[in-house]
Amino acid sequence: MTQDHLTKTTAETLLAWYDRHHRTLPWRISPADRRAGAVPDPYRVWLSEVMLQQTTVATVVGYFEAFLARWPNVEDLANAPNEDVMAAWAGLGYYSRARNLHACAKEVVARGGFPKTAEELIDLPGIGPYTAAAIAAIAFDEPAAVMDGNVERVMARLFAVSDPLPNSKESLRAHASRLTPRLRPGDYAQAVMDLGATICTPRRPACVLCCVREACKAHSLGIAETLPRKAPKKVKPIRTGEVYIAQSSTHVLTVRRPNKGLLGGMLALPSTDWAETAPNHTPPFDGTWIPVGEVRHTFTHFHLKLRVFTSDLPPCSLDVVQREDAESAMPTVFAKALRLANPVLKTKNDAT
Ligand code: ADE
Repeated sequence: MTQDHLTKTTAETLLAWYDRHHRTLPWRISPADRRAGAVPDPYRVWLSEVMLQQTTVATVVGYFEAFLARWPNVEDLANAPNEDVMAAWAGLGYYSRARNLHACAKEVVARGGFPKTAEELIDLPGIGPYTAAAIAAIAFDEPAAVMDGNVERVMARLFAVSDPLPNSKESLRAHASRLTPRLRPGDYAQAVMDLGATICTPRRPACVLCCVREACKAHSLGIAETLPRKAPKKVKPIRTGEVYIAQSSTHVLTVRRPNKGLLGGMLALPSTDWAETAPNHTPPFDGTWIPVGEVRHTFTHFHLKLRVFTSDLPPCSLDVVQREDAESAMPTVFAKALRLANPVLKTKNDAT
């Protein structure tokens, strides 16, 4: 054991590592700035945590900066038209998050600000146990145990929990709660996230670089890479459907999806139902529909194969949007179809 490990707790060691090696992220206040008295803006913390549910840091950064530039505070976001918020979210996936985000902004404004405890935060739309704990810890320094996939992996390894997920969730949470310090719990939560993202990675963890390897039971047993064990995943079924792109040189025909259900409330292309049985060819109007190929997309519970058809846009069509705006305002599956039919379209994250 090193001298360091003898004198510091695991949480203190992680905090010292975070002080030197934290990632610089646009929603984050550095430990040095925190020490100098800077306080996190709960709006930024909340927005980033909602975006980071199910989405990687690399994808979130651009969206976070675009939201902040357009809606610098929670009042601005609450006052925005819902379609604008949904369109700005397009491409991030899990669209109920965008609807809940907007509803949450309105409720926060109505209450006169963000509540400060995990217990109260969890009552707001779109805020579950993970997000409530993360906001309470990072924005308000509440010693809440923040459990996401990264934290579960770090705990499973530190304590060599070999019971598979999801069964082991409660025991991993108990370990995480015990480890959470009363001092600097916000930085500590982000330290564990960073360790999980950069060192204690799912495959090939960099144990030689890890500040807490002396305390890590899985490391000492030589089983770090095998943890956490996971119960076998269900095989996803394959659904099929057809999607219809009626376009002129400037416009494309769109529909708005019903608020409830998959991709709810999002701008979309007309399509058949998506089912495990073969789709009926049911374009939105009679005309010449040319097949241009197939796009594939994976959702949480199924794989989708969509056959793409194009046609000229009839004159005087209602419900059209500019072709150049359509791709960035629609969920990725429709953006893929638009790109297949119009190979020169650029993706939302392209530089120009
Ligand atoms: N993943 C989820 N929340 C995060 C955060 N605040 N910093 C880095 N990665 C995260």
